Amino acid sequence: MNYQAAADFIRQRVSGVFDTCVVLGSGYGSLIDKLPQKTTISYSDIPGFPVSTVPGHKGELVFASFMGKNVVFLSGRFHFYEGYSLGEVTFYVRVLKLIGVKNLILTNATGGINPDFKAGDLVVISDHIKLGLQSPLFGPNDDSFGPRFHDMSCAYSLALREKAQKAFEALQLPYKTGVYAMMGGPQFETPAEIRALGILGADMVGMSTVPEVIVANHCGMEVLGISLISNLAAGISKAPLSHEEVMEEGRRATETFWKVLRELMQLL
Ligand code: HPA
Repeated sequence: MNYQAAADFIRQRVSGVFDTCVVLGSGYGSLIDKLPQKTTISYSDIPGFPVSTVPGHKGELVFASFMGKNVVFLSGRFHFYEGYSLGEVTFYVRVLKLIGVKNLILTNATGGINPDFKAGDLVVISDHIKLGLQSPLFGPNDDSFGPRFHDMSCAYSLALREKAQKAFEALQLPYKTGVYAMMGGPQFETPAEIRALGILGADMVGMSTVPEVIVANHCGMEVLGISLISNLAAGISKAPLSHEEVMEEGRRATETFWKVLRELMQLL
């Protein structure tokens, strides 16, 4: 995969140091429209970049000045269930690494498993569980990004987690911490799968994030993950699950998430 060609393409259009990337999950896209002084690049223009196909995911990289910091926003991400390879799903992470990004802030929508969680909660991810899915690093190792066997014992940066918690506290907003389990989707889980995930130690479940976290760890980026509980997971929820519900909860949480992000930027 030609990460360098994509990075060169971006560099021809954007100058300056961009330390931080924020990946916007389902329903958070509208946040982007509020940013002043931005440069937008469509994924479809970037050589090698896949194109996102899920409603609510726009498909562009937005380079912006945000709270006095240069931040890249990824508006629309790539999911394994769309039919992309895990290499394609995580392509952007290495491209960002090549343009100098150090902090990767991932957001996502999840189903709540922990009985203390309710729809609308924001959760700082402390760790994850990957089940059944191959690693995005399967195959020959690219030593220019990282070692063959890399450590995942602190996949979610302790320093960034502490900063996120400080941001919530400064705003007097409640937050939770929890373990994210990734399932491949696109179908939501069965109640039996959710019970199993709960027994395994998962607090919430989603269909993204983990491949990117693995690749970001591999190349030495600092990762922060913030989940929105968009619904209670299957069997816990009394109602059938739907993507519309996930999007709606995302839209409802956008303002709060925006506040937290602003506060967090000042701590980075
Ligand atoms: N399961 C998996 N992914 C999700 C869910 C869920 O319940 N809600 C939002 N993303």
